[in-house]
Amino acid sequence: MGDLGAKVAGKGFGLPEGVWGRVGGWLMARGNGPTEKHLVKLAGLRGKEHVLVLGPGPGVGLVAAAKYAGIVVGVDPSDTMLLAARSRCGELIEAGKVQLIRGDAADTHQPDHSASVVMSVNNVQLWEDRQAAYAEIRRVMKPTARLLISVHKKWSPPGLAAELESAGFTNVVATTWEPPGRRATTAAIYTANR
Ligand SMILES: C[S@@+](CC[C@H](N)C(=O)[O-])C[C@H]1O[C@@H](n2cnc3c(N)ncnc32)[C@H](O)[C@@H]1O
Repeated sequence: MGDLGAKVAGKGFGLPEGVWGRVGGWLMARGNGPTEKHLVKLAGLRGKEHVLVLGPGPGVGLVAAAKYAGIVVGVDPSDTMLLAARSRCGELIEAGKVQLIRGDAADTHQPDHSASVVMSVNNVQLWEDRQAAYAEIRRVMKPTARLLISVHKKWSPPGLAAELESAGFTNVVATTWEPPGRRATTAAIYTANR
């Protein structure tokens, strides 16, 4: 990929910004929405669970999780994506079901042991310091909490399951899922407990 391609990919999808970010957000909502919803289904949310969504982008997963959770907190470093998610989740934010925070996987601004489920779709490959992110995720997870990570298989960091185990997560399971759609690519899904 040339310099221009890398810039467009970064501003469109990696850390979405400006016009490219808005276009990227629209594409992600369409292309990755089914995976966001699938992960919510896999999470098996029950009761009034507290769900933390890392890198929610345009917010499709926030809306899906809010149907079943007590509260859903989305943490994303991109102001463009926070705006897109705010526009998608407006009523849920007003109702106190969804909160949006500017932060990242290694700095979520969440209290210790607050989340019963932590989810991430298509951003683990962007975390600059995954060890710091794992430590942060374990800090905010309740002792019995579940972690679900999905990432396009072709971009999944090698050895992610082993990495999660080394970071202290238990019951780590790696599977794959085929999202619907002709252009969709296989999702690598990792589930674990704190
Ligand atoms: C490729 S988009 C995926 C968005 C959405 N989850 C989806 O699958 O459509 C990546 C998202 O992760 C966010 N992001 C980038 N670096 C991050 C980090 N270190 N921690 C959390 N989110 C991050 C970006 O701002 C963007 O919203």
